[in-house]
Amino acid sequence: MEPQVMVNGRTRALGDVGGHVTLLDWLRADGLTASKEGCAEGECGACAVLVSRPDAGNRSRWTAINACLVPAAGFDGQEVITAEGLGSPAELHPVQQEMAVRGGSQCGYCTPGFICAMAAEYYRTDRTPTGHAARVVEAEPEVDGNAAGRPSSNGHADPSAPGHAPDHEHGPNGFDLHALSGNLCRCTGYRPIRDAAYALDTPALTDPIRARCEQPAPPPLPTKIDDAHGGYIRPLTLAATLDLLAEHPEAQLVAGSTDWGVELNIRHARAPLSIGLDRLDELRGLDIGEDWIDIGSALTLSEIERGLDGRVPLLAEFFPQFASRLIRNGATLGGNLGTGSPIGDAPPALLALECRVVLVSRDGEREVALADYFTGYRQTLKRPDELITIIRIPRPLAPVTAFHKIAKRRFDDISSVVVAYALALIDGVVESITIGLGGVAATPIRARDTEQGLVGRPWTRESVREAAAVLGAEGTPLSDHRASADYRSAMLRTSLLKFHAANPGDRTEVRA
Ligand SMILES: Cc1cc2nc3c(=O)[nH]c(=O)nc-3n(C[C@H](O)[C@H](O)[C@H](O)COP(=O)(O)OP(=O)(O)OC[C@H]3O[C@@H](n4cnc5c(N)ncnc54)[C@H](O)[C@@H]3O)c2cc1C
Ligand code: FES
Ligand code: FES
Repeated sequence: MEPQVMVNGRTRALGDVGGHVTLLDWLRADGLTASKEGCAEGECGACAVLVSRPDAGNRSRWTAINACLVPAAGFDGQEVITAEGLGSPAELHPVQQEMAVRGGSQCGYCTPGFICAMAAEYYRTDRTPTGHAARVVEAEPEVDGNAAGRPSSNGHADPSAPGHAPDHEHGPNGFDLHALSGNLCRCTGYRPIRDAAYALDTPALTDPIRARCEQPAPPPLPTKIDDAHGGYIRPLTLAATLDLLAEHPEAQLVAGSTDWGVELNIRHARAPLSIGLDRLDELRGLDIGEDWIDIGSALTLSEIERGLDGRVPLLAEFFPQFASRLIRNGATLGGNLGTGSPIGDAPPALLALECRVVLVSRDGEREVALADYFTGYRQTLKRPDELITIIRIPRPLAPVTAFHKIAKRRFDDISSVVVAYALALIDGVVESITIGLGGVAATPIRARDTEQGLVGRPWTRESVREAAAVLGAEGTPLSDHRASADYRSAMLRTSLLKFHAANPGDRTEVRA
């Protein structure tokens, strides 16, 4: 069958889209121009759309992603909803209605992206009100139906309402504001947008988009599209993928495409062949065993976060600091390690956890310590015919952990420095400590000198101060547009002092 995508309930032929054509460009070329291109690099969310993705219990979940980053060819047989598919001017969707009456849109460029990101959270089946139903002061209905240009003065959630969420990032209706962390608005200001989000009710069970979540997501299809600029293949098994990779070691592996999409759009990179990994069953397991936690390399960060459900506290701290929800809905650990970047956020966390990675090729499988995986600037032990299948976390986990990301913005920013800790104390003495660092050398590294200096010593402010001086000298930090070398060293020193201040060691902690 010819490759096709179900968009807003209607089947559309994909056509001969090579691996370089993004979902956004394909949608817009097909007349669906609600989704906009703001940045083409995953930063603004103007391109957000909803896709049906697998969820627990053989159900599906409407997941918002950046259409500007992902290859359209990867959506063969999939279901997509754009802002056009949610409502119409005559019959607005509840999300559109709230945005309109609460003044959540001015120029409107960002609005369809906000609408899709907000709709994903509206339909999140585990979204539960944190208290009483939201009591929101009703906005006056707009007489001319156009709230744009006038920030709502009376449409805000009443902070004195009973049951109003005490958490400033969640509404009383359970709406998680992080759902919008990947959407930028240049002109409206975020308060009316937040008001719209917090005013949303629970979708009716008869709402067909809500009802769709009770059914499985569309399965991946074996896709093969040829194109003069580079074709796209989605194999359905790991064995078929490895054969393909052995025959085409120059092929581009594509998982969430949150790195590769930027290469395509901004650096105009082109691959002779793109191989879609993101729906390979063998790369999407989450196995929580007694001695190991095995994380499939093609699970998205959002899926891992949900699956682990706080079992690995270091990762629970890491997830919200990684990019935005839109990016985490696509980004994978395989992709983060696959780039070999020295400023990826996952490696320091995974180094502190003493992770191992499983690499596989047609010739077999090997397991390597992550600490040995990085061999140079953007270089790794991985051969061109290999891919990462599993990220393996040894158990028991160290009882005290932390993830410090030093960046210019709190969310959705690239780190200047990352420091991750895993510490075990016995009677106030350091039994073991592992420290992963990012952004201070050509590769992510372990802070070995600091670790060795601390083991066996009392976990006191004095010994930590000495160790902080050692930590400040680890790596070979560079000065660049994000931070100077001196700043990076200073951040290492203060990070350890902060970690000690937060964990002074007067608690007995048990390994989990
Ligand atoms: C707006 C924005 C914000 C971002 N913020 C952050 C951030 O805060 N922290 C951070 O660390 N990164 C960030 N990134 C970078 C990116 O999201 C991550 O590196 C992500 O983990 C990449 O995963 P992916 O699945 O999208 O990789 P892809 O783009 O699909 O692939 C990236 C590379 O990895 C290779 N690869 C993918 N899967 C495998 C595999 N299983 N085995 C071997 N190789 C593989 C691919 O061949 C490719 O070369 C950001 C990116 C954007 C666009
Ligand atoms: S166009 Fe800005 S995130 Fe896609
Ligand atoms: S309404 Fe203009 S950018 Fe958001």
